[in-house]
Amino acid sequence: MQPISGDISAKDIAKRQPAKLAAMEAHYHTENGAPLYIGGIVDNEKQEVNYKIAIPKALSFLAFGDFDAEVKGLNDFPENERPNVAIVHYAFQTMVGLGTMLLFAGVLFFITLSRKKEWFSKPYFWLLFSVMAPMGFIALEAGWIVTEVGRQPWIIHGIMKTKDAVTPVPGIVYSFYMYVLVYSTLTIAVTWLMNRQIKALNASKY
Ligand code: HEM
Repeated sequence: MQPISGDISAKDIAKRQPAKLAAMEAHYHTENGAPLYIGGIVDNEKQEVNYKIAIPKALSFLAFGDFDAEVKGLNDFPENERPNVAIVHYAFQTMVGLGTMLLFAGVLFFITLSRKKEWFSKPYFWLLFSVMAPMGFIALEAGWIVTEVGRQPWIIHGIMKTKDAVTPVPGIVYSFYMYVLVYSTLTIAVTWLMNRQIKALNASKY
């Protein structure tokens, strides 16, 4: 479902936050029939993306449902109203890349379940799924980076900048320290409990 909901989000961004879409794709120059970049290293100085795979016209199609639609580039926005392109582009690539891998992992699982049950006894099968297990969380964090870094410098797009929304209330930092402490304690406690559980299960097996 993620690629479908992601596609809907991207189409919405194309209309309402075009600078974010341009940063996601590291798309600097406004053009019709814009290509979709997969991967690549962003060179913000030269306004280029090196070592990418470019799929012709695909960005125009994915964003507007028309292969020749115009996609605004970052250069159409004042320099102080552009998000950090490299962070947003890498986070977007990470999210979509992991989403695609998770999709294939899901398909592989159902193939195994329905017609290749012998794969269940292969250590590589379980290694693959052990590696894939935390990937959903990484994709999720990458998604939030796209959303939040991608909308900078605005906290309310076109109306209020993030720097103007910072609270002047003193002492806020202490509530931050408190949260760090609470969550660190929870992390340690949960790790200890899970470890104990695994050891107890192993012990009861033999
Ligand atoms: C596979 C293709 C995917 C596409 C095309 C996609 C697309 C997008 C887009 C365009 C956004 C920005 C939304 C905004 O700023 O308004 C976004 C945000 C997000 N994505 Fe993805 N995504 C994909 C996969 C995933 C996966 C696999 C996960 C997690 C398991 C994920 C989790 C998130 C989260 C948590 C956000 C931030 C929440 C939000 O803005 O609604 N995405 N995604």
